[in-house]
Amino acid sequence: MEKDNMNYDVIEARLDQFAGDIVIKRKNEIGYPQNQKSQLLNFYKWFYGSGLNLSMINNVGDPFDIEHKHLNANTHEFERETIQKLAPLYGFDLNDLWGIITFSGTDGNNHGIYFGSNYLQKKTGQRPIVYVSDAAHYSSKRLADLQNLELRVIPSDVHGCMIKEEFEKAIDPSRPALVVYAIGTTFKGGVDDMGELNKVLDQYPDMAVYRHLDAALFGGYLPYTKYKDFINRNVNPFDSIAISGHKFFGMDEPAGFFITTMDVKNNQNPNEISYLNCSMPMINCSRSAMTPLKLWWVLNHTDEASFIEQTETMLENAKWFKEELDKMGWPAWVEEMSNTVYFKKPREEVMEKYVLAPDYDERLGGDLAHIVVMQHVTKEVLQRFMDQL
Ligand SMILES: Cc1ncc(COP(=O)(O)O)c(C=O)c1O
Repeated sequence: MEKDNMNYDVIEARLDQFAGDIVIKRKNEIGYPQNQKSQLLNFYKWFYGSGLNLSMINNVGDPFDIEHKHLNANTHEFERETIQKLAPLYGFDLNDLWGIITFSGTDGNNHGIYFGSNYLQKKTGQRPIVYVSDAAHYSSKRLADLQNLELRVIPSDVHGCMIKEEFEKAIDPSRPALVVYAIGTTFKGGVDDMGELNKVLDQYPDMAVYRHLDAALFGGYLPYTKYKDFINRNVNPFDSIAISGHKFFGMDEPAGFFITTMDVKNNQNPNEISYLNCSMPMINCSRSAMTPLKLWWVLNHTDEASFIEQTETMLENAKWFKEELDKMGWPAWVEEMSNTVYFKKPREEVMEKYVLAPDYDERLGGDLAHIVVMQHVTKEVLQRFMDQL
């Protein structure tokens, strides 16, 4: 009908305008940890010719439970393979492995804290205390609250790392400890010194401990650096890890993954759900079937050399940017292992143009901002930013 067609034209014109604006703006989006260099073009070409684009698929259920027949169409086999491909990067053994693709880093932390507290409770009959630094992402603190767990927030040093002596003071050895280590804090890119902090835990051999790593951004690229052993659980022991998929790995929508061991998974409430014909240890019922497919695609179209090259370029650009700010006399800092450069806050107009996140630390002179040097943040973009400073 003519009237309808006219409406559709208006709707499409509005959407075109909206999409055009986003495409222009995203080049300047350098203040948040998201990779704007999508590798999914060929995925979508395949997808729209496949017929799958007109199908409802849902990954409800456990991708590692291959004994039960899952009733609905899903991408569990790709989800399982994705976890199996990623897990060795963090030292997980393929024979003792469980994991899922999550909706986000926060969803992964939610599973880390939920699985950790169930595990500790099953082993000891006691609810744990959650320990996390004040520089860690707010999600862990929110999630401890959501899960009604006692939380002890440990002060961090000027680099964003948990202070060992403060951790020592906060420990209550009469209760199990659920420690969330921040592997790359959101603002400063500080990394908790697991080796030193574990020495504090080692003083209490009778205290049950579960370690969860919030490695939302750094967990993506550290395995491709000289720091790879740091995030390997055979070197620095941990029980689970959560990483975002839209950060280093370039998913084009919020995503993540959560990896743990079968031992941890087997010490959960199994939640046998008859209408789904399987056990449901994870928090969510319906889960995306598309995200595992997209992440599987990226991992099967990007070789290790390419991930190494992406990482080296990011870290080199971050180092170069910090050195250039030093030359300008603009106070700036970058932590070891980090692609996040933080510096004295620029004027509002620059903050807005580059979508920069603000923060405050009196120890560093007050107002701060940062740039997260992701794959799309080239030297040209950084130079343009500095020209505006
Ligand atoms: C260290 C850290 N953990 C967790 C999150 C939350 O991740 P997501 O946004 O994927 O939920 C972020 C977000 O930036 C983060 O920086």
